[in-house]
Amino acid sequence: MKRLKIVALTAVLGFFAATVNVNAQDVAEGEQIFKNNCAACHNTSDETLVGPGLKGIGERRPLDWIVKWVHNPQAVIASGDKYANDLFKKFNQAQMTAYPNYSEDQIKSVIAYIDAQAAPAAPVAGEGGAVATTPAEGSSNGGMMQYILVALLGVMILVLVALLSIVSSLSKLASVDPNSDEAKNVPFFQKIAENGKKLAANSAFKTGAALLITLLIGKATIDTAYGVGIHQGYAPEQPIQFSHKLHAGQYEINCNYCHTGVYKGKGANIPSANICMNCHNVIKRESPEIQKIYRSLENDEPIQWVRVHNLPDLAYFNHSQHTNVGGLECTNCHGEINKMEVVEQRSSLTMGWCIDCHRKTEVNTKDNAYYDKLVELHNKENKEPLKVQNIGGLECSKCHY
Ligand code: HEC
Ligand code: HEC
Ligand code: HEC
Ligand code: HEC
Ligand code: HEC
Ligand code: HEC
Repeated sequence: MKRLKIVALTAVLGFFAATVNVNAQDVAEGEQIFKNNCAACHNTSDETLVGPGLKGIGERRPLDWIVKWVHNPQAVIASGDKYANDLFKKFNQAQMTAYPNYSEDQIKSVIAYIDAQAAPAAPVAGEGGAVATTPAEGSSNGGMMQYILVALLGVMILVLVALLSIVSSLSKLASVDPNSDEAKNVPFFQKIAENGKKLAANSAFKTGAALLITLLIGKATIDTAYGVGIHQGYAPEQPIQFSHKLHAGQYEINCNYCHTGVYKGKGANIPSANICMNCHNVIKRESPEIQKIYRSLENDEPIQWVRVHNLPDLAYFNHSQHTNVGGLECTNCHGEINKMEVVEQRSSLTMGWCIDCHRKTEVNTKDNAYYDKLVELHNKENKEPLKVQNIGGLECSKCHY
């Protein structure tokens, strides 16, 4: 027992000793730089991605070499540096991007982040918190509704059967002399039960059943009519078996590495085959799926990706407004794309969906001077926090041309 305590104590102390060395701010900055630039080609472990795994890079290479390398890898190779040339050869002469603008301190932060990742216990600053929002509407919502409807239908059928048997017993009773023994002795409900058997033959029952079926068909028709133009759950097969689970999930390639417009523009952009080639000129070249990318480039024919999300032309939607200004995560609207083999439309993309979120979601006013005055004005006459609806998020003209 005592031993155990000592072990635990040393573990805790060791943990603090390990973390005190690493300045949390550096690690957070390093993480951001790494994820946005390096993660596309490097793992923090020792597993090779496009370039070598960077685990232990701080010990493997002197700092000034790493700085020179990151600033301009081609220059280091050209200088005749043996290590660099061997590495370049080993990686099939894949060219690393140059990052001339990162300061030595920033590169140190990246190394600190890589080291922190290697020590699994060390805490790493999490992702920046986003505004509190509703998660993407899952299909569970629709599922729940279905159950409720089925339950309601069940209740309706029971009520109908009960009503019909009452009608039938009443008509029976009406035909019996109220003063006869039969009417006095047989309990009312027993009569109902007896009459149940005759129900099948009863014409009122037949009418009821016909009515019910008509109702059911009617409901199905209305459902389909409302569903026109709604493609929730749409997950078409794509011309190349591109997996987000693999690229964005397992290899943690940043969404905007491929969807280059998502923080800057209206559309997120679907990547061109050239972006794929940054990696696939070396990775899995012989795979038949990758060969399709080569063919597309050789024949100068763009890959015919099937569009998944598609708002009608009458509606205006802008990504940067939501991701960059609003601080929303992709998952808020698209669900967990990084777990999907095949992309699926998770939200309904109806007007009600947009409006609903604008009613509920607070505007991300933090560090945004543009909103300071507005927040002040709003708070004077309103106890509720500033929501998107308060900045015009429900005005027709904001979403319709
Ligand atoms: C487009 C892919 C790519 C990106 C992006 C990239 N690298 Fe590299 N990196 C490579 C390749 C490939 C090598 C191996 C040498 C070569 O072929 O040029 C490498 C090598 C290295 C090495 C030497 C590794 C060793 O084992 O000695 C370091 C350090 C390094 N990169 C750091 C970085 C950092 C830091 C970033 C982000 C700021 C980054 N790289 C971004 C592709 C990339
Ligand atoms: C390596 C490149 C790459 C990365 C990284 C990537 N995507 Fe994609 N994405 C694609 C390609 C290619 C398509 C078109 C084919 C498809 O739908 O699978 C696509 C399609 C999509 C679509 C559907 C587009 C449509 O037609 O409506 C969404 C949404 C999407 N990506 C979101 C994301 C999110 C979120 C991330 C980050 C978690 C991400 N992507 C990361 C390449 C990428
Ligand atoms: C930043 C690097 C990177 C980029 C960019 C990239 N991929 Fe990949 N891709 C990978 C890695 C790593 C693998 C896994 C290779 C393995 O399994 O050994 C992979 C695997 C694949 C596979 C599976 C191949 C197979 O047969 O197993 C397909 C298909 C694929 N990528 C398509 C694409 C397409 C299409 C694009 C462009 C939209 C793209 N990739 C962009 C790194 C990348
Ligand atoms: C507020 C909701 C919302 C957020 C947040 C969001 N998207 Fe979208 N996304 C949409 C809608 C709506 C469409 C359909 C746009 C259209 O058809 O005009 C779409 C379409 C796309 C497409 C298809 C190409 C295009 O631009 O139409 C891609 C790719 C995509 N989103 C990626 C992303 C990525 C990556 C992120 C996170 C960085 C993200 N989205 C965040 C709502 C959102
Ligand atoms: C997950 C929540 C969410 C969903 C879903 C959503 N929005 Fe938004 N929207 C926001 C937030 C948050 C802002 C405020 C961004 C800012 O600070 O300017 C915003 C702002 C806007 C604005 C600018 C409003 C203004 O007055 O400046 C427009 C236009 C807009 N959204 C359109 C849409 C459309 C169209 C859809 C549906 C296709 C949609 N949004 C779906 C959260 C959402
Ligand atoms: C936050 C964004 C947003 C606002 C605000 C908004 N709409 Fe829409 N509206 C949409 C979107 C997105 C669609 C497309 C829905 C679909 O395809 O199902 C749409 C569709 C429509 C349609 C086509 C009918 C339909 O259901 O497809 C009409 C008409 C319409 N809106 C009228 C209005 C009017 C009038 C207002 C103001 C009271 C308004 N909208 C405000 C986003 C918005």
